[in-house]
Amino acid sequence: MCGIVASVGNKPCRHVVLQGLSRLEYRGYDSAGFVCIDQNHPYFSFKKEAGGVAPIQRLIETATFDGVIGMGHTRWATHGVVDEDNAHPHFNCKKNIAVVHNGIVEGHDEIRSQLINQGHTFNSSTDSETIAHLVSSLHSEYNDLHATLVALTTRLKGAYALIFLFEQYPDTLIVVRHRSPMVIGIAEQQMLVASDFLAFSDITKDVIFMPDNTFALITKDTIKLFTFDGAPSSYQVTKVDHTHKPLDKEGFEHYMLKEIYEQKRAIARTINFCKIIGSSVELEGTLHNFSSILQQNDALWRQLGLTKDRIKNLRYINLISAGTSWHASRIAQFFFETICKIPTRVYLASEFRYMSFFDEPNSIYLMVSQSGETADTLEALRLLNSFEQQTIAITNVASSTMVREAHGFMLMQAGPEISVASTKAFSTQISLLYWLAHRIGLERGEVGQEQMHHAEEALMLAAEILETSIENYKFKIVQELAPHYATFDRFIFLGRHISYPFAMEAALKLKEISYIFAQCYPAGELKHGPIALVDEKTPVVIFSVLDELIYHKLVSNANEVKARKGHLIVFAFEGQDELINLADCPFVLPRITPLLAPLAMTGLMQFFVYHITRQLGHSIDKPRNLAKSVTVE
Ligand code: M6R
Repeated sequence: MCGIVASVGNKPCRHVVLQGLSRLEYRGYDSAGFVCIDQNHPYFSFKKEAGGVAPIQRLIETATFDGVIGMGHTRWATHGVVDEDNAHPHFNCKKNIAVVHNGIVEGHDEIRSQLINQGHTFNSSTDSETIAHLVSSLHSEYNDLHATLVALTTRLKGAYALIFLFEQYPDTLIVVRHRSPMVIGIAEQQMLVASDFLAFSDITKDVIFMPDNTFALITKDTIKLFTFDGAPSSYQVTKVDHTHKPLDKEGFEHYMLKEIYEQKRAIARTINFCKIIGSSVELEGTLHNFSSILQQNDALWRQLGLTKDRIKNLRYINLISAGTSWHASRIAQFFFETICKIPTRVYLASEFRYMSFFDEPNSIYLMVSQSGETADTLEALRLLNSFEQQTIAITNVASSTMVREAHGFMLMQAGPEISVASTKAFSTQISLLYWLAHRIGLERGEVGQEQMHHAEEALMLAAEILETSIENYKFKIVQELAPHYATFDRFIFLGRHISYPFAMEAALKLKEISYIFAQCYPAGELKHGPIALVDEKTPVVIFSVLDELIYHKLVSNANEVKARKGHLIVFAFEGQDELINLADCPFVLPRITPLLAPLAMTGLMQFFVYHITRQLGHSIDKPRNLAKSVTVE
């Protein structure tokens, strides 16, 4: 899950490569490296840096050499600790072949042993270094680049996007793609390659998304593409209308805080986008009219790769995702089942791929992902495509691999999310899926025009509560609550029904940025074991619901905690006095339509967790061990 950038042209490339790397930091920030073939002699010059979040910056400041062909890498460690030896590029024994790698080589131990037996010496504990030695060994055997690459791709298993530099071919970038994205950019007397075109989007808009299972030999003015069996392959040049816009924190201390505050606008944009999506008519008039326009228009269904008939006959909805997107999907399960009355299942992408698959007619699969690049979700999508199932990407990134590979797509309008901890992607996913549930319900006759209109209004109201509740508690959290709760070593989170996946999201937020241990349970499970953990040193956070029956069950769970001298933090709604009175620390929000209770609580929960972490002084936007986009399985 690393970032790769390379350039070949007639001008020095260090600046372009390192600038590209800094844009790909979201793919990992453990270490970074740059290698080029020096202008003054035909040998490699390189530099690698490890540690923390600033290796790229240090490279930019300290690398002085340059070349007309070069490549860089930003790493998220999978094999081997974070240190300089394990940073990319990796080299063969003679140090005349360099490689940067994104992905995982399966069975690399076996290849490594064979190569060591042949006399190769390794300098790192990465799977990636194996590739440098293997390609070197194959090249000695075949003495031909093309034949070497065919043999290499036959041997390598797993997922890999690779770029090689050979001192012997000082004008050629050698690029291989198998299940990990790679994009080629065509500029004036210059070719660029990267794992995400954002790396070079200010230089060219003409790109080739390398097809899977291909390799390419690229000079400053030629591209030769081959399939893994060595046959020449044609390619398509696409114009991409998107430029990297440097974002600043606009006065906020962290991107996470800025993104928490952007949610109201992001939700409004998402709902408006949902309403106008695919509409071929001039949009004028009231919200009411938008919905009726859409009802007549099947542009939305076409974009989703569906038809009105398909929607009417829909029997199962499946959502597949990871992390925060999985929590949003679990919340959305209640939307589809309650609003459209369609049985809905939610799968963790990393588990789904290895489960038995049952082909159920009239099913659709929503792949929910902020980035549209998460490897587990992407592989689940590919598996479903191979079973000829209907896949739909629900993502924030229009240019993502999922949008390209799914049969249909729908975009949240969160805008770029920089902080590793997902905030506005979560709230816009919930909003989009709530809207979509109503829209499907409308098509199937489960929902009336008026209800559709109310749903759109309720979303805006939830967005309003999301923001105003932060303002209501801001002072208390910053001054009093965050300093107090930052002193605890562990927390328990509880929810029931629709607030259970929300409690899971809250626990994940606390874990990933504050590094405080947080355990989440469905509140009804407390008495089946976890209640043994309750004591005065372990705050228990309960998230309420607006369903009367379930609310009363939650009150019982809160009583169970208090009876064991537990310390209770409660997120509740106005009028829920029984629960509020039990709490040592109550947060009270205005009431909202029950299914949107999690959305309303989102901002306050995130703000609370953010400020606990701020007290601890951690790197909030780039927490340890994490990367924004998880592009390895
Ligand atoms: O880009 P995706 O939504 O597919 O990412 C899924 C998870 O990796 C992501 O939500 C992760 O859990 C976040 N860091 C949570 O804040």
